[in-house]
Amino acid sequence: MVNKYEEVDKYFIEKLVEEEDYLKKALLNNKINGLPPHDVSPSQGQFLKLLTKISKTKRILEIGTLGGYSTLWFASGLPKDGTVITLEFSDLHSQVAQENFDNSPFSGKIELLYGSAAESLTKLIAMGSEPFDLIFIDADKGNNPLYLNLCMKLSKPGTIIIGDNVVRDGAILEKNSEDERVIGIQKFLDIMSNSEHMVSTAVETVGIKGYDGFTMSLVTSIKKIKDI
Ligand code: SAH
Ligand code: DHB
Ligand code: MG
Repeated sequence: MVNKYEEVDKYFIEKLVEEEDYLKKALLNNKINGLPPHDVSPSQGQFLKLLTKISKTKRILEIGTLGGYSTLWFASGLPKDGTVITLEFSDLHSQVAQENFDNSPFSGKIELLYGSAAESLTKLIAMGSEPFDLIFIDADKGNNPLYLNLCMKLSKPGTIIIGDNVVRDGAILEKNSEDERVIGIQKFLDIMSNSEHMVSTAVETVGIKGYDGFTMSLVTSIKKIKDI
């Protein structure tokens, strides 16, 4: 049976998405180097670019670089003085991503921090990093609860936090899942559900990347006490 979702996504991508050469080349370079095809789709990438522009975001934090395909989409939506910091712990992924950044017009806007995301986040907090305008959480989903708590310390009222891959073909509904990714996303949603410091929603998506979705939260206030 023809997958209509996929066909329609392809139609939208062809009609609406300007996938520049450096983006196409990045995906090709990822493939040549054997990176998993876990990048956002072109239509999702264009969504992230539009969101960056609409929110007039200047400082972006990305957790989970892979080959930097989503990073490049974000960078393309930034103003002249905008920056993206992206976190990656795989040697190979970091290397390929840096090549992809160097082959784009945006290498000057992108800083790749190599190492465990939790450690990099902790360092950013300890350094007294300026809060970010937009944060994209897209690494090991089992650690999403930890990442969300750390990200709150790198946020200000108005920060947008996106969590990728929160549906996973509906696996999110499994009550006794033993998949740490599913458990991580469920706890991630529990934190959002219980937090007085953000307003959140989730959007289901279908298309060339299958049935999945993302959360979007707006940070509305910041915890005063250091108990997270
Ligand atoms: N944002 C990318 C896709 C990221 S895939 C895009 O849409 O193009 C998830 C990435 O997170 C992988 O490259 C993986 O190596 C990285 N990752 C997984 N666990 C990590 C950790 N603990 N610290 C840092 N990076 C991690
Ligand atoms: C997976 C991870 C992703 O970030 C993604 O966008 C798709 C799939 C995965 O681990 O399977
Ligand atoms: Mg993802």
